[in-house]
Amino acid sequence: MTETLTKSAARVKELGEVFTPATLVGEMLDKLPPECWLPDKTFLEPSCGTGNFLVQILQRKLDMGHPPLQALSTIYGIDIMADNIDESRQRMCQIMAEHGVSDMQRVLRILEHNIICGNALDAATLHSVPLQYIPGRLG
Ligand SMILES: C[S@@+](CC[C@H](N)C(=O)[O-])C[C@H]1O[C@@H](n2cnc3c(N)ncnc32)[C@H](O)[C@@H]1O
Repeated sequence: MTETLTKSAARVKELGEVFTPATLVGEMLDKLPPECWLPDKTFLEPSCGTGNFLVQILQRKLDMGHPPLQALSTIYGIDIMADNIDESRQRMCQIMAEHGVSDMQRVLRILEHNIICGNALDAATLHSVPLQYIPGRLG
């Protein structure tokens, strides 16, 4: 299946919205040092688009055997476009369901808290992202 990397020419022009191909995301994640994958390490994608990085980070954490709700709670994303945030949340939600997580209320609560619509160049948005994993806060 062909990967769609843009939504419209106008969005490319206005937002620089070109998504990273899955294979390239994988290659970039492969370059991270092992300590990045400790269970309590957090990731922030400040222009997450439709979640191409977020979903692969989540999938890797799950494949490594991290507790699913902890894995989800340690991943943060921001995008200025609401439809991109909806899509990122949906994709992450689906991965959690595929991984056998049944408590979707908790999953949705974590996603609404961690994956947010906003301007990442605005300090107020950045400060609203709690980049510290606190066990049990949401999960
Ligand atoms: C080049 S795309 C990359 C998307 C994603 N990181 C990826 O690699 O697939 C840039 C993204 O940044 C978003 N964006 C542009 N300006 C932004 C801003 N000021 N704050 C947050 N997101 C922004 C766009 O909506 C778009 O989804």
